[in-house]
Amino acid sequence: MFSVKTKIIFGGVEEEISNLNLKGNGLLCTGRHHNFEFADLNLYHLKISPEPSVENIYEYFDKIRDLNFDYVLAIGGGSVMDVAKILSVVTKDTKVENLIGSDKVKSRTKTIIAVPTTHGSGSEVTKYAVLKFQNLKQTVVSDFIVPDYALIDENLAMSQPKDLTLYTSIDAFCHNIEAYLSKISDPLTDLNCESGMKFFFDGIDEAMDNKISGRRKMLICSVLGGIAITNLRTNLIHALSHVVGAEKEISHGLANALFLRSYLKFYKDDEKFKNLGKILNVDIIKRTDEIYEKYNLTSFGDVQNKSEHNTKRLSDFVAQSEIKHIAEMTYENKRLLSVMKKKISKVEIERIIGDAM
Ligand SMILES: [Fe+2]
Repeated sequence: MFSVKTKIIFGGVEEEISNLNLKGNGLLCTGRHHNFEFADLNLYHLKISPEPSVENIYEYFDKIRDLNFDYVLAIGGGSVMDVAKILSVVTKDTKVENLIGSDKVKSRTKTIIAVPTTHGSGSEVTKYAVLKFQNLKQTVVSDFIVPDYALIDENLAMSQPKDLTLYTSIDAFCHNIEAYLSKISDPLTDLNCESGMKFFFDGIDEAMDNKISGRRKMLICSVLGGIAITNLRTNLIHALSHVVGAEKEISHGLANALFLRSYLKFYKDDEKFKNLGKILNVDIIKRTDEIYEKYNLTSFGDVQNKSEHNTKRLSDFVAQSEIKHIAEMTYENKRLLSVMKKKISKVEIERIIGDAM
């Protein structure tokens, strides 16, 4: 089944929010460095920190427990939107940790408007919110937290620094390729993902040059990736990054980026993957290698610029002795691994982690 539950609007954030004619009290969630003013709206402003935990949700809720809000307006990156989505369903009786897992949220009465300022998570259209809990990145999965509206304004993404631009864009690419290489994919999701990946390859250099055309392409890639994983789900890359990201305090986008090339190599002989290269008219592994080399992001030992200052690789964060443990923790994530098009063993996961070191 392929569906899009969110109304997706492209345009300037101020004008489009005004067009929504929002009534009543609103909760405005933004990142720590953002300030937005909307003259006609009655908003309480809550600043959100990155990589939220269950404890953080209780702290945020304490600040708004007496605020009777009708809608939540989230303007920010994935963490801001994820927190806003959770706060839209939390009441004073909610045990936040009990929301983790599939379909644990039972209702929602507040409208959610999500406005991404980064192009990665696709949270503006997904049924997911990621929270740190018990030293793992865990996911709230529910149709009740899918935003009602996503407003896409590329001007908001113009100020992202280069490293964030790269990591979040690769996160969006990962959503598209993981959904594409899922055994539960379907023709419409395939088309969706092929378009998402095309926008990535066409726009990544422009986005890294901070051109507005590139920001727009990456936002489209991110929205398409979000639609893909909400219809299907991610798989190996995210299963790995949820373990490593929680244990090593690596940002979500970078953690995915560290595993992407090993994942592509794992699928290099798969017919659907080979055909994807023809559809996109690009040698996917070669082009990805070029992007990593150009922007000093490497994850294979055979790349020459390993010692360059900005180069990031998994071994910067993980010791060889930890590979087995990470593979075991990843292997436990049956929700994600069970949908891999190509079945994977624990030993193969260890090899993929080893490749990324
Ligand atoms: Fe992601």
